[in-house]
Order: sequence, then structure tokens, then C-alpha cells
Amino acid sequence: MTKATNIVWHNAAVSTDERRQRLGNIPCVLWYTGLSGSGKSTLANAVDRILHERGYPNYLLDGDNVRHGLNKDLSFTDADRVENIRRITEVSKLFNDAGLIVSTAFISPFISDRQTAREIVGKDFIEIFVDTPLEECEKRDPKGLYKKARAGEIPNFTGIDSPYECPENPEIRVETHGKDIETVAWEVIDYLIANDYIKMVKKA
Ligand code: ADX
Repeated sequence: MTKATNIVWHNAAVSTDERRQRLGNIPCVLWYTGLSGSGKSTLANAVDRILHERGYPNYLLDGDNVRHGLNKDLSFTDADRVENIRRITEVSKLFNDAGLIVSTAFISPFISDRQTAREIVGKDFIEIFVDTPLEECEKRDPKGLYKKARAGEIPNFTGIDSPYECPENPEIRVETHGKDIETVAWEVIDYLIANDYIKMVKKA
């Protein structure tokens, strides 16, 4: 719902296609989703490193980091998670339009929000399910949050007392358990090459 009235859309002088041609890649949104501790940020960072070293313009929006700034007014209630993802979707769309390969690493637990993101971003939306089972995430517990959640110190913790709805048809599904992160990152890069988003060139 748009609250403001009397606003008029202006067409930009430089088109999306012109920006794409200038930058030499097809920008897309790599939408990583999975439980806390599943490895979304680690994987997104590894993919971004490979892209960066080959000269592809990219930008990573990371859940914990964005919640320190743009979304610091949001909690982890269902309604605030929906708003969190809505804002990220719009920011991703802007960065994508600007010509970047955008990566988002948010739990984004609800199918409906990811579906809305897909519709808003359009055809270059690539959903990546970081399919790490809860038991493994809990075993890793890199921030000690599962332990706190089990002790009842963090309400609405995803996987414990707040739901995570698995993607039904993600473009990419990866398993991180027992694998080298570089190997998993190349599964994403191979998808981008196979689908003509990037042409892999030698490291600069
Ligand atoms: S989302 O559900 O709204 O997409 P987001 O990715 O932004 O979540 O933030 C998740 C991160 O916040 C987790 O990796 C974890 O470090 C931290 N966190 C703090 N409280 C919670 C909670 N109740 N549920 C899940 N993650 C939480």
C-alpha cells in the first residue's frame, strides 16, 4: 500500500539495459535462504569474493549487518520479519537496477515473502536454499544463539519456536555439511555461467 498521494513516477534518462551493457554482466539477485548458522553469509561472501576477483560488480546485504542500520527498528516477530524482507527486496531491486549482482543473506523464513521478492525483482531472481539441517546448525551454533533459545532466553527463534518454511523450487540448493566452502561457492558460480549471467574470466 502506498500511503503518499500526488506522486508521479519519472522515467530515468539512462535505461536499465544501457547500464547492463556498460557493465558487461547481467545483474541478478542471489537470494540465499536458510536457518541461522546454515552458512548463508559464509557462502555469499565466498561467492562474492570469486566474482569480485573476476571483475564483476557485486554487493552483499547481510542479515545481521542490515539489522544494525536500515532495519534496526525491527525485531523478530512475524510482522517485523515480513517488513525486514520487504525492505531488503526493494533495496535489492534498486541495486539490481543499478547494475550490480546483489546477494542477500537473510533467513527469510516465509515462502510468501520470498515469492513476493521474486515477483518484485523479476526474472533475474535466483533463490539459493542453503539446506543445512537444524541439528547441524545447532551443533555449529557460531553465535551461541541456539543455546540461548533452548534456554528460553530468545523468543521466536527460527527453528525452535518460530517456523522456517523450506523453498519448494529453488533455482539452487546446496548442502554445506562436510564440504569445503569454496566447492559450494563454485556450485553457485557454475549456475551463473551456465545461465549466461557471467562469463568466467581468469582471476585479475
Ligand atoms: S529474518 O528472519 O528476518 O530473515 P535475519 O536474517 O534478518 O532474519 O536475521 C537473522 C539473524 O539474527 C540470525 O542469524 C541471528 O544471528 C540473529 N537473531 C537474533 N534473534 C533471532 C531470532 N529470534 N530468530 C532468528 N535469528 C535471530
